[in-house]
Amino acid sequence: MAVRVRQHVNPLSQKFQGAIAALNWSAIYINPNQPLFLDIGCARGQFLLEMAQFQPHHNFLGIEIRQVLVEAANQERDPLHLGNLHYLFANINTALSSLVSPSTVQGVMIQFPDPWFKRRHQKRRVVQPQLVQDLAICVRSGGFVFIQSDILAVAVEIRDRIAEHPAFEQMEPTDGWLTQNPLPVATERERLTLEQGLPVYRCWFHKRG
Ligand SMILES: C[S@@+](CC[C@H](N)C(=O)[O-])C[C@H]1O[C@@H](n2cnc3c(N)ncnc32)[C@H](O)[C@@H]1O
Repeated sequence: MAVRVRQHVNPLSQKFQGAIAALNWSAIYINPNQPLFLDIGCARGQFLLEMAQFQPHHNFLGIEIRQVLVEAANQERDPLHLGNLHYLFANINTALSSLVSPSTVQGVMIQFPDPWFKRRHQKRRVVQPQLVQDLAICVRSGGFVFIQSDILAVAVEIRDRIAEHPAFEQMEPTDGWLTQNPLPVATERERLTLEQGLPVYRCWFHKRG
């Protein structure tokens, strides 16, 4: 039977406020000491499925608030025996600080986050000031946060929120957007946007040492 996947869920709803169980990193990854990368809002996980095969010496954790997608992504990963990839059902806004220890994350990707256009819904956007603060704690010095969006207003809001935090420094160009994606794999949403000839707004932040 086909399972209906909701397009959006409200991250502020009570059912997404609970604490998450601590991850057993040794059970998740063959080598838990490899550098850790987070993909926030990984949806079906196709981007990380490719990244994990492309970069076997890195560990990847996809975090997604729609549980059905997480279960499907882990099932698709299993036959490939990728010991450096895991998908987790969680609301990143409540989970990040308890999920990872300070200075343990090498890189964070936030790609095409839900725009929540209506003014009264903008508190549902994933990059809130508290998330930036949590990122400042969990990303190690020299690590990065990469963002991209097809919605200019969303990209500007995220860029400004991260840029105003003293832990992060925006990499060139600071007066515009990256024209190319520095990562070797495009997300599903990115491919769709580019196929339609629409612009993508990207920027890269370095965590200060
Ligand atoms: C528009 S999709 C983009 C998917 C993918 N990153 C891409 O670029 O193709 C945004 C995803 O973020 C997820 N999401 C939204 N808020 C979230 C939250 N607070 N925690 C975790 N995932 C969230 C949504 O469920 C959705 O799958």
